[in-house]
Amino acid sequence: MKEIELKSTILLAQFHELDEQDKKLVEQAKEATHRAYAPYSNFHVGAALRLKNGNIITGNNQENAAYTNGICAERNAIFTASNLYPEQPVVSLAIAAFCDGEYTISPVSPCGACRQVLIETEARFGQPIRILLYGKSGIYIIPQGINALMPLQFNPNALKDFE
Ligand code: THU
Repeated sequence: MKEIELKSTILLAQFHELDEQDKKLVEQAKEATHRAYAPYSNFHVGAALRLKNGNIITGNNQENAAYTNGICAERNAIFTASNLYPEQPVVSLAIAAFCDGEYTISPVSPCGACRQVLIETEARFGQPIRILLYGKSGIYIIPQGINALMPLQFNPNALKDFE
């Protein structure tokens, strides 16, 4: 038997350490939290995507009284981008959350379903998505993309990988 180590390295930054592009994306994700519709959880999430052509697309969580019909901010943003700019690769993604009158202290992390959709988007465009997770205490930067958050992922290649 052999041990296999799965390792990810991410960065922890303060807002002032970000470059202008990342700052803008984080600001847009924070702003998008205020357009969320989250009367059931009161957890308002915002996502902002930067596309290769420079456009920024935002999304936020949209809840429903039939709870499972709601959608997360990340998937809302990704599906909107795919609708508006189907040919444009997604270069980076910022996420923020606002709850009980303040942004979360800890960086907010995407749920499993959204991670799976991020995997699909990376595979579709053949490039990693730089991910920024905002929290008041600091920002996690994941330059290498979703692989760092979801090792041993099920991706579209798996459907071709049988003998
Ligand atoms: N939510 C997101 O929008 N993104 C995440 O990554 C985590 C969870 C939403 C779903 C639901 O509307 C609320 O946050 C509480 O789970």
